[in-house]
Amino acid sequence: MARNKIALIGAGQIGGTLALLAAQKELGDVVLFDVVEDMPAGKALDLAQTGPVEGYNATLTGTNDYAAIEGADVVIVTAGVPRKPGMSRDDLIGINTGVVKTVGENIKKYAPNAFVIVITNPLDVMVAVMQKVTGFKPERVVGMAGVLDSARFRLFLAEEFKVSVEDVTAFVLGGHGDTMVPLVRYSTVAGIPLPDLVKMGWTTQERLDAIVQRTRDGGAEIVKLLKTGSAFYAPAASAIQMAESYLKDQRRLLPCAAYLTGQYGVNGLYVGVPVIIGRNGVEKIVEIELDADEKAMFDKSVSAVRALCQVVNGMGQ
Ligand code: APR
Repeated sequence: MARNKIALIGAGQIGGTLALLAAQKELGDVVLFDVVEDMPAGKALDLAQTGPVEGYNATLTGTNDYAAIEGADVVIVTAGVPRKPGMSRDDLIGINTGVVKTVGENIKKYAPNAFVIVITNPLDVMVAVMQKVTGFKPERVVGMAGVLDSARFRLFLAEEFKVSVEDVTAFVLGGHGDTMVPLVRYSTVAGIPLPDLVKMGWTTQERLDAIVQRTRDGGAEIVKLLKTGSAFYAPAASAIQMAESYLKDQRRLLPCAAYLTGQYGVNGLYVGVPVIIGRNGVEKIVEIELDADEKAMFDKSVSAVRALCQVVNGMGQ
């Protein structure tokens, strides 16, 4: 049986980690593309040489030629620039819009049947640009944000409660920015909702509020520490979970930036919502009930995404 082909556009910090995880999980053969001369070939060779030690069967190649991504089943896009301390994700819009446009044209040309996962920031807007440029059905173009934001929330909660991260489920919806919406009511420890855990004395409302805020600032906290770029291990792991759900038709229910056509009262915009990912891509957008406060936060986040989209439209992209 032929292996799946996974193309990674952008072979930087996240791209390299994506390649390692995809190979370790044997999701398929990996092609790393970048505009920097020879670098992706060097990274791919290094990763291929990891195979005999780690015991994975995957072919890894690096290239500066888009033709090498031909026929890819999944394309994960990290091409662009990451933020530096003091920058918001939105500050990247000028450079990254142009990059994503070029990348999209080449995906359309060489991998017309691929499932495309965008990671480049500002995420919700970049995934919209990608869908527009490729002309692919929105079910086949998604953005990675919610899995990462939820993972950050889950870690902080697990640390607070001193329980395994495996037993903490959490949901973060909305745009991938300062207005994201960590949903306390829908987050649990082994099925026990967070508000119940407050009542049980496991934590206080104040501590929970601080964890919610730390989740919103989760990316900036890492940028401040790294000083030269942004997070890459957890973003890569999150995108790989989405790719795996598609390739293995797992039908995982994951928060992702998906194209809304009336759900949550939003039409024609990519925003973070719970979706089911299977062999047809985004197979279902799950509409959960939001109370008045949650809806107000979600709407605020949607407005922030809409405003950024207007900036891109104003750029003639
Ligand atoms: N085509 C292909 N690759 C490009 C292009 C382009 N037009 N422009 C830049 N790149 C490559 C860079 O050469 C670099 O190797 O994209 C790569 C980005 O890698 P890093 O700078 O290491 O950034 P990374 O941490 O991987 O983040 C990438 O994901 O989370 C977001 O905000 C982050 O937008 C950033 C993206």
